[in-house]
Amino acid sequence: MKQVYTTRDLAARAELDAGFGKPARLAVLGWPVAHSASPRMHQPALDALGIDARYIRLEVEPGGVPEAFARMRALGFIGCNVTVPHKFDALAACDEAHPGARALGAVNTVRFDADATRGFNTDGPGFARAIEDDFGVALAGLRVAIAGAGGGAGQAIASQCALSGVRGLVLVNRSLEKLGPLVAKLRQAGSEAEIRALSFDDPSLAAQCLDCDLIVNTSSVGLKDGDPSVLSEECLRPGQMVYDTIYQPPVTPMLAQAAACGCRTSNGLSMLLHQGVLAFQQWFPGADPLETMRAALVHSSTGAG
Ligand code: ATR
Repeated sequence: MKQVYTTRDLAARAELDAGFGKPARLAVLGWPVAHSASPRMHQPALDALGIDARYIRLEVEPGGVPEAFARMRALGFIGCNVTVPHKFDALAACDEAHPGARALGAVNTVRFDADATRGFNTDGPGFARAIEDDFGVALAGLRVAIAGAGGGAGQAIASQCALSGVRGLVLVNRSLEKLGPLVAKLRQAGSEAEIRALSFDDPSLAAQCLDCDLIVNTSSVGLKDGDPSVLSEECLRPGQMVYDTIYQPPVTPMLAQAAACGCRTSNGLSMLLHQGVLAFQQWFPGADPLETMRAALVHSSTGAG
């Protein structure tokens, strides 16, 4: 059974679906894409609802998004998810984009409607739901620090925080110059939050973080074996909420340190789950796949699937 397809496999239905009971009608596009957990939650949700569709992984080379979209449309695909590095190209390849996706400049969910290819971004809203689900609090009124705010995930989360009405935003990034355009964008969107932008070696970093209710890691620090915690323990205090968008490993150095400090912690599995649920609902309005997807993700991330 094929684990990863390429654009070339989107030539004809007969070959794409040979040996399968269900037609491929949804996909996640990435480069690379073999690691994507999306099929592990979307396929069980499709199956549970009796939808006659297969969700596949599709490896698309940089620059190949328009052709992949055209081929999927021609084959009658319902839609797709888009992951790194294609979220910006995906916006350009859509006929219409939801205001949230347009504001961010990135699309992670696409629906092939009869009259148009429509783009959405469920990363930010998925993050807001993850925080509510994991910590029982809404983002509105919180003071939030984002470590790695200059990356793709960081910008999506910063925009969502602003949209959700946080009281304060502390944006931290290794390269400070990436934060200027982000701050301008947040201001332009009408955010009234108090926004600070700093680098990791700013002398006020610890004090700024201690002043926050929620600390989020959106950097890639913690993904690799031997990585340090992205923030030192002087930045953390008991009772603070600490969220790491990384979910593999499930306990990153930052989360281990935060737990030892008496913080409340959670990892990026909940954001993956909720952005997936919101994407599914763009394809199938009114569906409620949350518990099926949650069970499938927990099952597969504990190594049982
Ligand atoms: P994306 O594709 O989502 O934009 P990325 O470019 O790999 O991902 O960057 C993710 C984030 O991790 C960025 O904020 C990056 O910081 P820079 O903007 O300065 O590159 C951050 N990051 C990566 N390695 C880092 C490190 N060793 N220390 C601190 N931040 C790091």
